[in-house]
Amino acid sequence: MTIQAEFAPKSVSKRSEMTDEYYEHLTNLMGMQADSELAGAYGYVPWIAKAPSIQETYTVSQIVKDEVRHAHVMFRLLEQLGFDTQGYFEKHNFTLRVETSDIGTERVADDKRVNIFYYPIETWYDFIMFNFCMDRGAGHQLEDAKHCSYKPWADVMEGIFKEEAMHMAHGDWWVKKLAADPNTKGPAQEALDKWYPRTMNIFGRPNSPKNKVYRRLGLKVRDNDEVRQAFAAEIKLRCDEYGLRVPDWQPVERHMTEEPFIPG
Ligand SMILES: [Fe+2]
Ligand SMILES: [Fe+2]
Repeated sequence: MTIQAEFAPKSVSKRSEMTDEYYEHLTNLMGMQADSELAGAYGYVPWIAKAPSIQETYTVSQIVKDEVRHAHVMFRLLEQLGFDTQGYFEKHNFTLRVETSDIGTERVADDKRVNIFYYPIETWYDFIMFNFCMDRGAGHQLEDAKHCSYKPWADVMEGIFKEEAMHMAHGDWWVKKLAADPNTKGPAQEALDKWYPRTMNIFGRPNSPKNKVYRRLGLKVRDNDEVRQAFAAEIKLRCDEYGLRVPDWQPVERHMTEEPFIPG
């Protein structure tokens, strides 16, 4: 049976149940998540060796393992839809990072990762703020995927979401601790000033036509800006509690992508 594009499908499980439009948008979103999970894992890898304690070496290793697992699961789903995962893996460099401090919403290579994953994680403060901001941003984005119309994707999201929540909790615990110590509060605020705007940039333009298509197809639930505001409200709540200042963020045209990204 072919699903008509005019209504949001309730539940789709096979390629034969998809229109070409559905297939194209679904694989685009899943591809963005798969690439982001893998690129994210590689960005964390150096911090296994540079973590500040044995406990943290173990925790970072666990987070790396989680991200590789997420990538593996997502690429397997794409493979089931006819995608050449091995060929794609060989043609792209997921370890690639940029030196530039602000790339807006540009992608610097032809992979599909959310562009925040092109920035290097240079300090332990960066690592923590990445967990605090980006894992939280990802969690909000992935919340939609948990309720999406492609059942195999929605099914794997339950487990992925739980692991992302642990990464986020790791960030929260550390941000609270770093903000409470006058010796570490300054660098923690600096790292927040760096990663908060970058995370705010990932959600895409409000009322974007593409987001409307995703919602019509049941691949997304909320408008881009609704997801962004939910993320910002959570950060504000925590920053008020920890005594940190939420950095200013203005929607800059070149920072507002048409594409609502799905990070990992
Ligand atoms: Fe994560
Ligand atoms: Fe992940």
